Amino acid sequence: MTSLPTAGKRKRVFIRTYGCQMNVYDSDRMADVLRPLGYALSESPEQADLVVLNTCHIREKASEKVYSELGRLRDVKLERRREGSDLTIAVAGCVAQAEGEEIARRQPAVDIVVGPQAYHHLPQLLAEAERRAAVRRAGKRLPGAGVLDTEFPAESKFDHLPAPAGVRAGSAFLSIQEGCDKFCTFCVVPYTRGAEYSRPVEAILREARALVAAGAIELTLLGQNVNAYHGEATDGSTWSLARLLRALAEIEGLARLRYTTSHPRDMSDDLIAAHGEIPQLMPYLHLPVQSGSDRILEAMNRGHGRDLFRRLVDRLRAMRPDLALSSDFIVGFPGESDGDFDDTMRLVDEVGFASAFSFKYSRRPGTPGATLADQIPEALKTARLAALQALLADQQRAFNSMKVGATVPVLFAEPGRKPGQMLGKSPWLQSVHVEGPTSLLGRIAEVELTGAYAVSLSGRLVSPLEVAA
Ligand code: SAH
Ligand code: SF4
Ligand code: F3S
Repeated sequence: MTSLPTAGKRKRVFIRTYGCQMNVYDSDRMADVLRPLGYALSESPEQADLVVLNTCHIREKASEKVYSELGRLRDVKLERRREGSDLTIAVAGCVAQAEGEEIARRQPAVDIVVGPQAYHHLPQLLAEAERRAAVRRAGKRLPGAGVLDTEFPAESKFDHLPAPAGVRAGSAFLSIQEGCDKFCTFCVVPYTRGAEYSRPVEAILREARALVAAGAIELTLLGQNVNAYHGEATDGSTWSLARLLRALAEIEGLARLRYTTSHPRDMSDDLIAAHGEIPQLMPYLHLPVQSGSDRILEAMNRGHGRDLFRRLVDRLRAMRPDLALSSDFIVGFPGESDGDFDDTMRLVDEVGFASAFSFKYSRRPGTPGATLADQIPEALKTARLAALQALLADQQRAFNSMKVGATVPVLFAEPGRKPGQMLGKSPWLQSVHVEGPTSLLGRIAEVELTGAYAVSLSGRLVSPLEVAA
């Protein structure tokens, strides 16, 4: 084992995050690991000594972006070397996991490739990269490419990562579950993140309390299948997500709880009941369904049909009548007929979504879907996506319009685009713009909603006094 890089000397790291909220959480954790080594965050790669690309492999486009970004970084690195300094380039995240060796081959300027379960090894990996750089500076040739760590270590990274250092404007993410054992036939996540793993209850409660003490008034619990959570408590019992939510709701000062992403199959009775019982649990649920066709759901290996989804929605709404739903959809999965696609459109029509993400099926190497016959032509995928997105956009606009006139609590998370403007989130995760002071940051205030747009609302502060915190 090489010695760790010496702390003390000021260095800068730029972290670019692609993909899902788990990557956002991980990027913050990587910053926390690097801080004791002397790394402060930098706003741009040009000012950084170390650049980390935290990558996403979910669709082809997301993956390809990484290689073009790496090309640009190589130019920065070469320029630095001409000036007698250097730039360390690290690729983290799901592309690193899936294509580690290919990255090293396609872009030799990459110094470190580190998979999502190995971030706690970053200090060692950096030390090794530094050692290699010193050998290269001495004019010697190095065998092989950069430093690669894409193991799924036996120990959990969570046990070795430092506690989160800060909270952004009142709202924090907390990863409670990782990985996936469901193997939907289109999806790379079980391969890039590994087997399903639930963090122990006590570690989560500790982190939650620390985040609240640091100023969080909203926590979003994260996991690829967050409602499959089954974490061990200190007394040896196993807690469900519902039980965990109930315990978190006891934390004083915590005004809002959310969780994402959930799977319809793991929407237990207990969790549905929690939506009616926990006032802090926000009336918004992201519940991906992917398709409204039973035949396609089966081919996707989702493990449920359209009826189960419809029933879940009805039961959730019975528990919490103001619940807003969001979902993910894939169009053009292999074999999807016009009739299958109509089933998806009908499901959307019947359920009514407050927001949604929809994608063209992307053929991912190594997944069962990639080898299925009857791949759908690109033009047909494009047409179906346009039709679905038009319907979803209408629903989102209608949902936003319906709220105009209401006075709702808004959590302000960031300044708006224009000076004097602040941007916050309603309980239904809508973006709300108001004229207001920056002292609103990280607070909840009552806002009368005055205007509705495609993906946001405008409002007026009813009282500048915060309701919570
Ligand atoms: N665990 C979540 C989804 C995680 S991936 C679930 O089970 O629903 C996030 C979203 O990306 C998925 O819901 C899906 O809509 C989309 N996605 C995943 N793989 C894809 C692929 N190969 N092509 C297009 N979209 C995909
Ligand atoms: Fe991917 Fe399916 Fe697992 Fe979600 S449940 S992460 S879509 S394999
Ligand atoms: Fe992308 Fe990995 Fe998240 S593939 S969506 S960053 S789990």
